[in-house]
Amino acid sequence: MESKVGNSLCLWLILVAHPLWMTMVLANMEGDALHSLRTNLEDPNKVLQSWNPTLVNPCTWFHVTCNNENSVIRVDLGNALLSGQLVPQLGLLKNLQYLELYSNNISGPIPSELGNLTSLVSLDLYLNSFAGLIPDTLGKLSKLRFLRLNNNSLVGPIPMSLTNISSLQVLDLSNNHLSGEVPNNGSFSLFTPLSFANNLNLCGPVTGRPCPGSPPFSPPPPFVPPPPISTPVFQKAHN
Ligand SMILES: *[C@@H]1O[C@H](CO)[C@@H](O)[C@H](O)[C@H]1NC(C)=O
Ligand SMILES: *[C@@H]1O[C@H](CO)[C@@H](O)[C@H](O)[C@H]1NC(C)=O
Ligand SMILES: *[C@@H]1O[C@H](CO)[C@@H](O)[C@H](O)[C@H]1NC(C)=O
Ligand SMILES: *[C@@H]1O[C@H](CO)[C@@H](O)[C@H](O)[C@H]1NC(C)=O
Ligand SMILES: *[C@@H]1O[C@H](CO)[C@@H](O)[C@H](O)[C@H]1NC(C)=O
Repeated sequence: MESKVGNSLCLWLILVAHPLWMTMVLANMEGDALHSLRTNLEDPNKVLQSWNPTLVNPCTWFHVTCNNENSVIRVDLGNALLSGQLVPQLGLLKNLQYLELYSNNISGPIPSELGNLTSLVSLDLYLNSFAGLIPDTLGKLSKLRFLRLNNNSLVGPIPMSLTNISSLQVLDLSNNHLSGEVPNNGSFSLFTPLSFANNLNLCGPVTGRPCPGSPPFSPPPPFVPPPPISTPVFQKAHN
């Protein structure tokens, strides 16, 4: 009896607690996540043909890059003629740094689960057919440097949570159908009108359109032409 318990404990240690086994389980989980993406996409050029789910990990698949621990750090599928929709399982790629899906024809929502990709440095979904809201959860991507969602059909407000991403260097939300006030604090203090261009219903200082119900940008008295763009913000203090 005693040795039986000992044996199963030993087996448990080998199977569950052994780090290599853990790595393999992880790698398979990532392969499964990517494979569910494959099954959800139409791929007329067969760029995903090497994505074989029976391999122990996805690290030999084309357009996938892993780190030394066989965990996925890049998915590079720009300009690949893909259509269809993304899958929530993408949020399981916890070491993913680059998600490059620009210039395809991918539609449907941006999964809120992408906010779980806390290693992400670059999220490039521009030039697709994404619709729906920009998920609030993207504000959790604290290492993000590039966020390019331009030329899609996104609607609704720009989530205030994005102002929290202090590493953000490049933001492009242009050519969508976004509405509401453009934040101008936090990381957004860096961005110019180009980041928000061609969204008919955005408002706020950076758009040149005051938001409904908010005061005009230039201080009183009225009927005085607004100061040149180069005027620093602290001019207000002198009035
Ligand atoms: C994108 O998809 C739409 C409809 O699904 C199709 O009409 C259009 O030709 C596609 N565009 C490209 C560039 O594949
Ligand atoms: C991933 O994100 C979703 C939606 O944002 C959330 O409900 C879920 O709990 C997250 N999963 C993990 C493992 O963090
Ligand atoms: C993005 O959309 C705008 C407006 O529809 C269009 O003028 C521009 O050419 C598009 N960008 C690219 C790279 O296709
Ligand atoms: C920004 O981050 C702080 C600290 O994590 C959090 O309390 C706050 O709610 C966040 N702001 C938004 C708008 O998400
Ligand atoms: C920006 O301002 C909003 C409130 O207007 C606030 O919720 C948000 O946390 C601020 N962001 C930062 C980074 O301070």
